[in-house]
Amino acid sequence: MPEGIGDFVRALPKAELHVHIEGTLEPELMFALAARNQVELPYASVGDARRAYEFSDLQSFLDILYQGAAVLQTEEDFSDLMSAYLRRAAADGVTRAEIFFDPQTHLSRGVAFATFMAGFLSAQRKFAGEVDSALILCFLRHLPEEDALRTLDLAEPHLDQILAVGLDSSEVGFPPEMFKSAFARARSMGLRTVAHAGEEGPPEYVWQALDLLGAERIDHGVRSLEDPDLVKRLRDEQTPITVCPLSNERLQVVPSLDRHPLPRMLELGLNVSINSDDPAYFGGYVGDNYVQVAEALKLSRDQLATVARNSLASALTR
Ligand code: HPA
Ligand code: ZN
Repeated sequence: MPEGIGDFVRALPKAELHVHIEGTLEPELMFALAARNQVELPYASVGDARRAYEFSDLQSFLDILYQGAAVLQTEEDFSDLMSAYLRRAAADGVTRAEIFFDPQTHLSRGVAFATFMAGFLSAQRKFAGEVDSALILCFLRHLPEEDALRTLDLAEPHLDQILAVGLDSSEVGFPPEMFKSAFARARSMGLRTVAHAGEEGPPEYVWQALDLLGAERIDHGVRSLEDPDLVKRLRDEQTPITVCPLSNERLQVVPSLDRHPLPRMLELGLNVSINSDDPAYFGGYVGDNYVQVAEALKLSRDQLATVARNSLASALTR
């Protein structure tokens, strides 16, 4: 019997380079942590939560994402969250994971930097034999740059546990140029750099991420296709682009999965990988993203293997 597409995808060694740990919080764990920490949830049940996950754009999702994160309070909570993700990633054939976390989301609720870092580390150690993992500190771009700089100060004692900085949250109206100093400072501290750009924002934001922030990888980047000069730059430099198909479908960045530009990006010779972004909210982990995009867009197994190879080659090392 021919091997099914799911088995083929699981067997491909791959890196996941675009996943937000807060976006891996499944409703079941959210309810368990809400009970443990006596936090009220706006949902009556797990099913009710899942039904509320209907998004019209990035902002409608971020509102729900940040609300869910309120149940995360203790070191054990962050460890349980990270363990659940790494277990799931290992089952999908992920051998390397570079995982975003949003310190400002937790600091603003009174959770100490040391609390989430200790929770992440214990889970990362527990799964080190299965998934080699690293953390990327993301700045929330809807907050002022001074806040990002203060976050870097708080990160200083934890630098041995942080690989890179990134930029996430609401994109339009918050261009990368607003975070030049924070990225320059991060680079001077020995951190690598990536940035979300070209998800809802225009190609100009991708240029800025490259030229003003020194971003070594572009997260999403799908709107780059609107600018042929930018496509040429990304192709010539083989800049890694972390594409998240189910996220793009759910946040209506693309009208439907079968119209996703991933095949065009591959044909153009861009260095693209497939990633899950916020799998608990978008209906699939990285393996599901590979399988669903392959089925919707008739990608060949050779193309899927190319994407998996791209992902491993695009991992950052320090
Ligand atoms: N874009 C911006 N910020 C985010 C995302 C995203 O896709 N997911 C979680 N935070
Ligand atoms: Zn993202």
